[in-house]
Amino acid sequence: MGTLIKNGTIVNAAETIQADILVEGEQIVLIGKNLPKDKHTVIDAKGKYVMPGGIDVHTHLDLPFGGTSSSDDFETGHRAAAFGGTTMHIDFVSQPKGGMLHDGLAIWRKKAEKAQIDYSFHMMVTDLRDEVMNEIPTMVDEGITTLKVFLAYKGVFQVDDNTLYRTLLQAADHGMMVMVHAETGDVVDLLIHKYLKEGKTDPYYHALSRPPELEGEATGRAVALAGLANCPLYVVHMTCEQAVTQLRLGRAKGLPVMGETCVQYFFTTIDDLKRPNFEGAKFVCSPPIRTKHDQEILWGAIKDRTLQVVSTDHCPFWFEGGKNGRIAGKELGKGDFSKIPNGLPVIEDRLKMMWTFGVGGNRIDMNRFVEVNSTNPAKIFGMYPRKGTISVGADADIVIWDPKKKETLSAATQHMNTDYNLFEGTKIKGAPSAVFVRGKQVVDDDKWLGHVGYGKFIKRSPYSPVL
Ligand code: URP
Ligand code: ZN
Ligand code: ZN
Repeated sequence: MGTLIKNGTIVNAAETIQADILVEGEQIVLIGKNLPKDKHTVIDAKGKYVMPGGIDVHTHLDLPFGGTSSSDDFETGHRAAAFGGTTMHIDFVSQPKGGMLHDGLAIWRKKAEKAQIDYSFHMMVTDLRDEVMNEIPTMVDEGITTLKVFLAYKGVFQVDDNTLYRTLLQAADHGMMVMVHAETGDVVDLLIHKYLKEGKTDPYYHALSRPPELEGEATGRAVALAGLANCPLYVVHMTCEQAVTQLRLGRAKGLPVMGETCVQYFFTTIDDLKRPNFEGAKFVCSPPIRTKHDQEILWGAIKDRTLQVVSTDHCPFWFEGGKNGRIAGKELGKGDFSKIPNGLPVIEDRLKMMWTFGVGGNRIDMNRFVEVNSTNPAKIFGMYPRKGTISVGADADIVIWDPKKKETLSAATQHMNTDYNLFEGTKIKGAPSAVFVRGKQVVDDDKWLGHVGYGKFIKRSPYSPVL
């Protein structure tokens, strides 16, 4: 006895077809027209789209950062993700100071005991001692095939070019890919001190201290070094014309380089950082949100395939933390923008925003929607065709998407563990009516059916394609 999803329209990256889907156990076992009901549990998807679950390859759950921690853990973050149609994500593991990569991995495995949807990890490299260099290949045996380096956050996560280049060489030798946060951290640091010295302490100066030229410079440098090392590179959270231009140039030369942007960079602007009463802090993330012009550049880069993925960089903090049982949040930066914890709550709203304004706004079609939110993430990160597609043999990570469902995004109704919503008051049209993770229904409209401990760690393959 299985679950039979009948009368829906299946949307994959490559095609749209009218067919039924039979799920048995954790997998899709049959796709066809007019499949017999037999004794299966039947779900009628008439008038709805049936798509592979969203895969968010850039999240920070329960991350100690900026003098506090991000406010969603693997329990709350997973519930929020699934209510938004995301069935799997990849989180970043920090290398502890003076520690080994496996030390960090043990900490993140513990956090993930609460998992309700599937997940994997990227390994951050912040201290590349010889013993750590030798440890890198063992990550592949763990099913972790991506390393992450930061070219910013001086004194915290930032690495120098020596570390970046040696990481690229080691990754290339073992079929791994390097991900990079591209901003020129040393200059950002100078600009932060300059503005603070001038008494310019409001959230807006966070953006001015991280100009797009620095994102362009660091992106160009990372692309060049990846080319030299012949290592696949994936530039995370790209925001602006300067950075996109560097990636486009690298790709035009045939270098193995790819990039993502995040939902927030399409829908918010630097003006949001000027909101009064410290509300600008709600929009503080790095790289900062940019201009309307940059939004157009990003849509263009999704269209011409310079960018392959849309993720969230979900890293939520309370706006008013430190009271009512809440950990500290954005208020830490009152009077000093450099102390505002960097990061935004987005994981629940990615697909709804991309559908309403991406597909609904004729920026992308439904197939490209599936491609950038699910299929390309699965391919690039070594999980395809187990994930990222509605196909026989794939995990039954399925979203039944109701294109007529209307909602108003709000902190009052969201599932993310924060006291604000980045898109507060935005009206969306199109949302999940049912969500399945490996065959188990976890969302039924506004009802939560999932449970702690169900989510599985997904081992990923090395030597994934460069798209
Ligand atoms: O502001 C951000 N992006 N916070 C999370 C850490 C990072 O840089 O990805
Ligand atoms: Zn980053
Ligand atoms: Zn991030």
